[in-house]
Amino acid sequence: MIKNDNYEIHIDNSMESLVHFFNEPKNSFSKIFILVDENTHSACVPLLLSKVEYLQESEILEIDAGEEHKNIETATGLWHALLENGADRNTLIINLGGGVVSDIGGFVASTFKRGIPFINIPTTLLGQIDAAVGSKTGIDLGNAKNQVGAFAHPLGVFINTDFVDTLSDRDLASALGEFIKYALISDYVLWNMLVNQEYDRDTDLGFIIKECLSIKNKLISEDLYEKGARKILNFGHTVGHAFESFSMGKNNRQLRHGEAVALGIIVELYISTKVMGLDNNLQKKIESYILKNFSFCAIDKSNFDELLDLMRKDKKNVNNKISFVLISDIGKPHYDQFIDEELILEALKYYSEL
Ligand SMILES: NC(=O)c1ccc[n+]([C@@H]2O[C@H](COP(=O)([O-])OP(=O)(O)OC[C@H]3O[C@@H](n4cnc5c(N)ncnc54)[C@H](O)[C@@H]3O)[C@@H](O)[C@H]2O)c1
Repeated sequence: MIKNDNYEIHIDNSMESLVHFFNEPKNSFSKIFILVDENTHSACVPLLLSKVEYLQESEILEIDAGEEHKNIETATGLWHALLENGADRNTLIINLGGGVVSDIGGFVASTFKRGIPFINIPTTLLGQIDAAVGSKTGIDLGNAKNQVGAFAHPLGVFINTDFVDTLSDRDLASALGEFIKYALISDYVLWNMLVNQEYDRDTDLGFIIKECLSIKNKLISEDLYEKGARKILNFGHTVGHAFESFSMGKNNRQLRHGEAVALGIIVELYISTKVMGLDNNLQKKIESYILKNFSFCAIDKSNFDELLDLMRKDKKNVNNKISFVLISDIGKPHYDQFIDEELILEALKYYSEL
């Protein structure tokens, strides 16, 4: 179990911790809704109900799957559904899904009747190592990522790695993007472990989840509202979010979040060599590892303006300056690096010619 000031994170395939949660007198609710998307409805609800009988009577709320539905229309649909189905301030929402479900479910819960309780049960590996923890909730505005949202704490996070069994290979691999980020901002031990082992369904997921969440939990304990050190968790994300938004709605090219982060890291490593003196050989080594594990998202010169424009909308920016997290070495991240657009364009050109 990992703990912070606000809630506990249980990594427990038996889900006894969740049974125990509902046995506590303070956790009695007037109603319970399980929020799912169309995939987690069929893939994850049966496993959850088989582990936690108490939830048999819960009501299901289903949304369409995918980032393109993490928006105000879906949120409005959920607020209406809660209202029409008699939700009150003592109603619990269980977010059973990947990062899209926990982001939008947490946002809807934190705003409905000025805030009702929720818990997260992440069912993607990316959700388990990252999205379900940290109390950031929100939705996209158009294709601009996470522009509207709130910090809101779940009552708890309950992780069962068995949920990952039904995940597609592509969604499983997507989590590697965030794992690479954790390793690069953390230390050589984690990085060497990452590159020296095959990453597949037989990998010890519990170990990876604990490593990543310990890093995240330490940072959020120090700086929940991202005024300082927490920002380093955004390594790869300034460009990654732009890539993810850029690909949104382009059916055959829609990038998963973790894929976009991994490709974003390539661009941000290039900038790191120019601004932070990151060693070129190390940059190339990390870049090859990413290219070996992820399909490339090709861009050309005609896309640079759109990508730059998306980066101008990044929440970390200050005074219209685009903000980056850069690294000078593995384990040496630097946040609040405001980079001239000329260098960003140079880095995009470098990427486009790979
Ligand atoms: N709040 C945060 O701190 C934070 C951190 C990182 C990422 N995020 C957000 O998380 C989102 C990405 O999360 P994601 O990668 O989990 O994507 P996702 O929620 O879209 O899930 C990916 C796909 O897997 C399916 N799926 C989920 N669990 C499944 C299961 N067990 N079996 C079969 N299919 C399953 C989903 O239906 C979906 O199609 C992005 O919106 C990103 O911005 C948030």
